[in-house]
Amino acid sequence: MNFHILTLFPDMVMDGLNTSIIGRAIANKLLTIEAVNIRDFAVNKHNRVDDYTYGGGAGMLMQAEPVYLAYKSIEEKCEKMPRVIYLSPQGKTFSQEMAEEFAKEEELIFLCGHYEGIDERVLEDIVTDYVSIGDYVLTGGELPSMVMIDAISRLIPGVLHNNVSAEFETFQDNLLEYPQYTRPEEWRGKKVPEILLSGHHANIEKWRREQSIIRTAKARPDLLEKAKLTEKEKKMLANNSEI
Ligand code: ADE
Repeated sequence: MNFHILTLFPDMVMDGLNTSIIGRAIANKLLTIEAVNIRDFAVNKHNRVDDYTYGGGAGMLMQAEPVYLAYKSIEEKCEKMPRVIYLSPQGKTFSQEMAEEFAKEEELIFLCGHYEGIDERVLEDIVTDYVSIGDYVLTGGELPSMVMIDAISRLIPGVLHNNVSAEFETFQDNLLEYPQYTRPEEWRGKKVPEILLSGHHANIEKWRREQSIIRTAKARPDLLEKAKLTEKEKKMLANNSEI
């Protein structure tokens, strides 16, 4: 999978993504990440890519042509028209489901806006998906594109060493993850739940699923509505005094 990021701050995205698990995946050639500097496509001698907005108002806007030329430099190299994701609070809210859908693509282009945004005309011409990472306003699209690339990359086979964990964790079946513990068995007077030391796998699995359900009911009841609970589990929840 090849990620291309159109940005005014290539170092920011490359430094952030070239580390840890994603960095290792790049080194192992499971994916590539390329940042294209929109400023390299400036069409004036001062290398400016922003200008005042028609109709007045505060702030500057990124011009259409440098963005278009930067996009074209990538599109020319792709076999088929790649999806172009524009990061914006006006987009559809990013979710695990969207990450799974994007993970099926071979090429993805992320367009990061700055200042007050980008001239609408180029957005109309090149953008296929408008995506927001949440209801708050950031200074640019770089962090959202890094968030998305991280979430998508870890779904690519081989990126996580154990593929099981991508499948079974939080948001699988709309449940949050159960609590987990490592050594020591007792830490500052707090003991690991007895059942986890029992070695009884079926009981452990049952306990973990119950914990997931209880956690979801407490923290994200909206998710629980979409989870497929058995009648027994629904009863367990109804009888749980903590909720
Ligand atoms: N750009 C600025 N804020 C954003 C957000 N919340 N999501 C995606 N892109 C953004």
